[in-house]
This record gives sequence, structure tokens and C-alpha cells, in this order.
Amino acid sequence: LQRTFIMVKPDGVKRGLIGEIIKRFDQKGFTLLNAELMTVDRSKAEYHYMEHQNKPFFGELVDFITSAPVFAMVWEGENIIEVSRLMIGKTSPLEALPGTIRGDFAFTKEENVIHGSDSLLSAEREIENFFGLLKKRISKDDFPFEDRKSV
Ligand code: GTP
Ligand code: MG
Repeated sequence: LQRTFIMVKPDGVKRGLIGEIIKRFDQKGFTLLNAELMTVDRSKAEYHYMEHQNKPFFGELVDFITSAPVFAMVWEGENIIEVSRLMIGKTSPLEALPGTIRGDFAFTKEENVIHGSDSLLSAEREIENFFGLLKKRISKDDFPFEDRKSV
């Protein structure tokens, strides 16, 4: 099973799309392992988008992602990195197909509602950046649902 980092970006949070996005991943059969509404500081944002550090829009991208709370999540499932990218849709609104999250909800490439890791390596790095090494290892086996009744 793979894990991936999915983040509802500030525009998605403001537009009330957190529930819709959780619903789509849940109904697909993926498992939510961790989630937190958080404000991202600049160093975390710069590390997250380090592959784009030399792009002309890097500053704007970091400004945007730190501008308001995001909803960060870790999801687990079969081939989830590739499948979630299909569910998210292309970066450009001209290419994002209807039925995908961006195709249905995003209309600019700068503010496109959601982020999903694009490889195993970036998933590991992004989960660690947002949730830390310890939380990264949370799995279904770590949730003792049976024991909760006695608490
Ligand atoms: P992420 O899941 O957010 O990484 O999107 P992506 O993998 O589909 O696209 P990519 O990694 O190539 O670009 C990262 C993000 O940079 C995009 O999601 C956009 O939010 C942003 N971005 C891309 N092009 C531009 C641009 O021309 N201007 C600005 N301001 N942002 C851009
Ligand atoms: Mg990307």
C-alpha cells in the first residue's frame, strides 16, 4: 500500500471544498490516516515547493500557500499516488477534465484547489514536512478501534 500527501489549498478551504474532497477519496476506497487544518509557514512552503524554486512564480506560489489555512492530509491505498493525480486532474484549467477535482472546481492554474504528491519520493518528503517522521508511520493498525469502547 502506498501513502500520499493531499492538501486542500487556501482557495479550496475558503470555498468550502474540504468535505467534498474528503468524500471523493473516501468513496474511492482510500483510507485517511491523518489530517490537520494548519497555517503553513514560509520555510515549510518553500521546502514543499522546492522543485519550483527557480521558477518565476515561486514567490507568488509561496505567498499563496501561506496566505490562509490549508487542510493537510495523509491518505493510503493501492497505487494511490498515480490514482490520486488522476482524481485531481491536470494543473491547467484548460486541460483538467470534468469529473476530476480541478476539472469540476478549479478555474485558474495559480489557485487550483488541491495538491497531491507526484511520486513516492515526494510523498515521503511531503508527509514528513507536514506531519513529521513519527506521524508518518501511523497506519490502520495504529488505531485500536476495539479498545476505544472501554475508554
Ligand atoms: P501541485 O499538486 O500543487 O504540485 O500541482 P501540480 O503538480 O499539478 O503542478 P506543478 O507541480 O507543476 O506546479 C505546482 C503549483 O504551482 C501548481 O499547482 C500551481 O498552483 C502553481 N503554478 C503553476 N504554474 C503557475 C504560474 O504560472 N503562476 C503561479 N502563481 N502559480 C503557478
Ligand atoms: Mg506538483
